[in-house]
Amino acid sequence: MDLSEQLVGSKVILKKYPTTFEWAEELLSITKKNYSHLVPWMNWAFFLKEGSVEDEYEFLKMCADDWEAKSHFEFGIYSIETGEFLGGIGLIKLAPSCDKKAEIGYWLTKKACGKGYMQEAVSLIEGFAFDLGYNRIVIRNEVTNLSSKKVALSLGYQFEGVERKGHFCASENEFVDINVFSKLKGE
Ligand SMILES: CC(C)(COP(=O)(O)OP(=O)(O)OC[C@H]1O[C@@H](n2cnc3c(N)ncnc32)[C@H](O)[C@@H]1OP(=O)(O)O)[C@@H](O)C(=O)NCCC(=O)NCCS
Repeated sequence: MDLSEQLVGSKVILKKYPTTFEWAEELLSITKKNYSHLVPWMNWAFFLKEGSVEDEYEFLKMCADDWEAKSHFEFGIYSIETGEFLGGIGLIKLAPSCDKKAEIGYWLTKKACGKGYMQEAVSLIEGFAFDLGYNRIVIRNEVTNLSSKKVALSLGYQFEGVERKGHFCASENEFVDINVFSKLKGE
């Protein structure tokens, strides 16, 4: 099983999150600076508004444990050209194991949007997933999240349908409909 801690593209490099207090401080600060950009779509950002560095550090420790357990691989996305942190992307194993399916979740900082970084990041992590033996990769996004929908479609993910009220959106305090996209190994 290839557990590469770095995935290298032409514009971005994905690196496993370090489990350090310094990185927790930096990641929390980046999240807070991007609060209004992230919060409509990411519940974790909503809850981090009042979050402490200790909370963020606990998240990093959980990522490290999940990586060991091979259940969730969380990467930071960095610019190859400048080394700047651009956002995060994770591959999460879906149960049961025998189904060989996983979900990709992602986000960019506001200033990193509109440059094609996420398309490359998703295609890198998708290759990592298929190399690990996954057979089905899913991307789910709120039906109103047109930017995320475009990422999935631009990479050839098939639209499967709408999961009605499939997600609780914390910032709106309501259940929302979710688009489901997928790609199978070999597609
Ligand atoms: C979802 C999200 C990651 C999409 O970001 P994005 O910048 O639109 O996606 P990409 O990095 O793939 O860039 C694609 C855009 O860059 C443009 N672009 C510019 N240069 C490009 C290049 N060389 N190659 C590809 N695209 C390029 C594309 O035209 C496209 O712009 P458009 O949407 O106006 O047509 C981002 O909006 C985000 O982080 N939102 C907040 C969090 C979120 O919603 N996460 C997803 C939850 S499901």
